[in-house]
Amino acid sequence: MKALLLCGGEGTRLRPFTHTQPKALLPIGYQPILFYILDALAETAIREVVIIIGPNGTPIRALLQQTNPWGFKFTFISQPEPLGLAHTVLLARAALGDDSFLMYLGDNILAEPLRPLIDRFTQEQPDALLLLREVKNPRDFGVAQVDGARVRQVEEKPEQPRSNLALVGIYLFSPTIHHAVSKIKPSRRGELEITDAIQQLIVEGKNVAYHRITGWWKDTGTFTDLLATNQYLLKKATPAQYGTVKKTPINGVLALGKGSSLKNCLVKGPVCIGAGCRINGSVLGPYLSVGDGVEITNCSLSRSVVFAHAQLKGVTLINSILGERVEISSAHRKEEPFSLLVGADSILRF
Ligand code: TTP
Repeated sequence: MKALLLCGGEGTRLRPFTHTQPKALLPIGYQPILFYILDALAETAIREVVIIIGPNGTPIRALLQQTNPWGFKFTFISQPEPLGLAHTVLLARAALGDDSFLMYLGDNILAEPLRPLIDRFTQEQPDALLLLREVKNPRDFGVAQVDGARVRQVEEKPEQPRSNLALVGIYLFSPTIHHAVSKIKPSRRGELEITDAIQQLIVEGKNVAYHRITGWWKDTGTFTDLLATNQYLLKKATPAQYGTVKKTPINGVLALGKGSSLKNCLVKGPVCIGAGCRINGSVLGPYLSVGDGVEITNCSLSRSVVFAHAQLKGVTLINSILGERVEISSAHRKEEPFSLLVGADSILRF
């Protein structure tokens, strides 16, 4: 079995960050989103990963050509425009050949291991195996209606959902999906929808099975999702001390990267700090993720993500995302926390 990993798309809801970086490379918790997915795939027998990249996807290719601790064989396929999830299957037709494949949306993070799902798919050999999860807002998702062990209908973001079972962005397909994809037409929003291809399988009487997940899952499409995912991932972080810590009480988990220093701070873990950071006189956490080469002085930061090489001085922030090389400084630090979303290379002084 191969994996088809979808990292095309514009990530419009995560602008400004996706102006300068593809969504899959946004560093959340302690590494880019894409790496959590590759870590999960590495625990399965899959060794070949076909990656769909959009016009902003060059950094993904460059990074994975340099860094491949998983030992995957990567094939990159360019998708010039985000014409839909089923469009990526069409583009990847030759690369996937006649193998079954696991299709994984490059912004989904799932707690459940993939191996048992693949084992079930291999044993039962359905035409498709969908992952479903109960949600409160089914209108925002592809929604499935089930009957016994089979899926009877799927619909993309229905006005009047027939169930509260959302399609998780992870699917297992046999090669019969290629025929179904060739039959469908673009939807009203101009995309080749994977739900339409799955519905085509159902109409043709194919076996579309499902697995209900109950554990943690997030599609990291919005800022709220990103911050919730950061919190979830940091909860699983383990302590690591590669830097130096002076006059800094540590509560909870701290992961401190190589060459980083903390002085006169208070750590309220979980907190993950990258390499080469200098942090002084600050309250850190809970749920703070800091990239490499960041400088923080006299700040209080919680439930936030600070990308690499940012410089922060005299601010109290919560639920914030600060892009690469951002510079923020305040001459009059307020204790009342506020929330900021600041794109790469921005400078704020107040
Ligand atoms: P979406 O979240 O539907 O789209 P997006 O990532 O472009 O974000 P936004 O809606 O904010 O503009 O896509 C889900 C995943 O699938 C995401 O990882 C990108 C990927 N994708 C493709 O690779 N090609 C496509 O044509 C589409 C629609 C999505």
